Amino acid sequence: MRHLISPLDLSVEELEEMLNLAQSVMKTPEKYAHICKGKKLATLFYEPSTRTRLSFEAAMLNLGGKVLGFSSADSSSAAKGESVADTIRIISSYADICAMRHPKEGAPTVAAMHSGIPVINAGDGGHNHPTQTLTDLFTIKELTGRLNNLTIGMCGDLKFGRTVHSLINAMVRYQNVRFILISPNELKIPDYLRKEVLDAGNISYIETSELEKYMPELDILYMTRVQRERFFNEEDYIRLKDSFILDADKMKYAKKDMYVLHPLPRVNEISVEVDNDPRAVYFQQAKFGVYVRMALILTLLELDKKGEI
Ligand code: CP
Repeated sequence: MRHLISPLDLSVEELEEMLNLAQSVMKTPEKYAHICKGKKLATLFYEPSTRTRLSFEAAMLNLGGKVLGFSSADSSSAAKGESVADTIRIISSYADICAMRHPKEGAPTVAAMHSGIPVINAGDGGHNHPTQTLTDLFTIKELTGRLNNLTIGMCGDLKFGRTVHSLINAMVRYQNVRFILISPNELKIPDYLRKEVLDAGNISYIETSELEKYMPELDILYMTRVQRERFFNEEDYIRLKDSFILDADKMKYAKKDMYVLHPLPRVNEISVEVDNDPRAVYFQQAKFGVYVRMALILTLLELDKKGEI
């Protein structure tokens, strides 16, 4: 039985296979419409979500399966003090696979240790968000045709943004990928990522607070929101929240074929006027997330070779 806790749980080859499967699902959804008949997905969300939870549910429904779950800790027995370990033991007898989001880093790992079904990390604290990363990789590959030879700008809250941490971990495995890490000083990437991943892997990167200066070099601009829920005090959040706002003027510095991604939700960091720019692909990115999660469910349930009516 396999789980997906970190993006590194999949080898580059397995990732390639999954992205190919996601593409097949997108192009010929009818081939996959009944494969999960009789299967159930549980969504265990201890933190708010729109895209991840609902795209997981849409994915399972698209595959002919059923869904159950809870969307907040308050509406589950976690509110009465039940542990993640006990909860997953119970859910293992109600569902065939589960997606878990939790504010505590490592909670999905604990769940996987006590689970009788595959556990998918749907975001754990400021740590990892591997299914967002699969979605990001799929989006980059679909739009640029490659996952190597890229200059990727990451902008915003690089300290608490788990999507950033997961995407860096995943992208360093490809050739000639360079990062421009754009953030206020207080929201730079965590030290472990700088030392153990970027420096240790001899990866090219620049840390800066200047977005415009580096815009002309970027193939991808990955914008992120400042993660209010991870701040210890509101004053710091208010001071930092509008550090970077991408608008039409700043887009003038970008290449014609640069793409703007954002895991969403957006707060204020991308002006709505950018939405109509053909290089703004964040809504398409969210749609791609359904195909990627369909491919992931098929893979973890070992139904990925059965793409036939
Ligand atoms: N990208 C993402 O994780 O969005 P949600 O918080 O809405 O799931």
